[in-house]
Amino acid sequence: EKVLFNDKMIDRENASFSFDDRSMYFGDGVYEVIRVYSGHPYKLEMHLQRLQRSADELDIPYSIKEKQSLKKSVMELIDTNNLNGDGYVYLQLSRGATARDHLYERHIEPFIFAFTKEMETPLNQQEQGIAVYLTEDIRWLRCDIKTVNLLGNVLAKRQAADHDCSEAIQHRGDTVTEGSSSNLFIVKDGQLKTHPADNLILNGITRQVVIDLAEKQGLSVSLTAFTTEEMLEADEAFITSTINEITPIIEWRGTKHGMMKIGPITKQLQSELQADIE
Ligand code: PDD
Repeated sequence: EKVLFNDKMIDRENASFSFDDRSMYFGDGVYEVIRVYSGHPYKLEMHLQRLQRSADELDIPYSIKEKQSLKKSVMELIDTNNLNGDGYVYLQLSRGATARDHLYERHIEPFIFAFTKEMETPLNQQEQGIAVYLTEDIRWLRCDIKTVNLLGNVLAKRQAADHDCSEAIQHRGDTVTEGSSSNLFIVKDGQLKTHPADNLILNGITRQVVIDLAEKQGLSVSLTAFTTEEMLEADEAFITSTINEITPIIEWRGTKHGMMKIGPITKQLQSELQADIE
């Protein structure tokens, strides 16, 4: 199995990281998870654009335009590893390696790596729905940047698992933001609602695709924040992500409790998304 290591394709066993990589000391790096369906990357262009935006926001000097080869490298990695079925590509860009110092210098060379992984679509969860755990959003105020600094997210995910839930849904006070590794939609009286793409959430690629598909179906999507009460009183709710696609929520636990049924709009969007993938 090969991994992408800067501009080279090398054996995974030979891939060793610098002791001084800043993503290790400071979480000083950004990443993307790109789905692969039947050997083809899904929405690769959008992911690479978001990676560029994350790098720009963190002042990491990396230009994907100049390095058009990145797109080629990702495709090559999928081919080399014979990922013909379903899976994903993990791509990480670190500010680079230098003696530990909070102050970063702009001349350090960024470091990029990627690996592929086979993965089946979690159909069971998509058909049966999941229980989610409500918890306070303790993350920083730039959740729009896809950084590898994910402590708030990993603590929330562990909390959810400890309560037999598959995902954590985070809220800042009364306002619901997003999952620990997914975005959240609710449906009330036929209208969809999801948090606006501001600094409090990651603007998910799946979120953007779902908004687009919904609007094409003539459904109205309101990009406005909602409260935990509104969420529990919704008719339907689902999470979206590259890994989970569209997964319905059937139970709420944590700071508030409630049950929910999988509804027709969730199912309609699930089949629209499948059609878009195929
Ligand atoms: N996570 N919000 C957060 C905090 C996320 O980490 C993710 C994705 C999303 C959904 O974004 P997208 O639709 O582009 O996958 C929303 C990835 C899958 C991960 O960290 O593994």
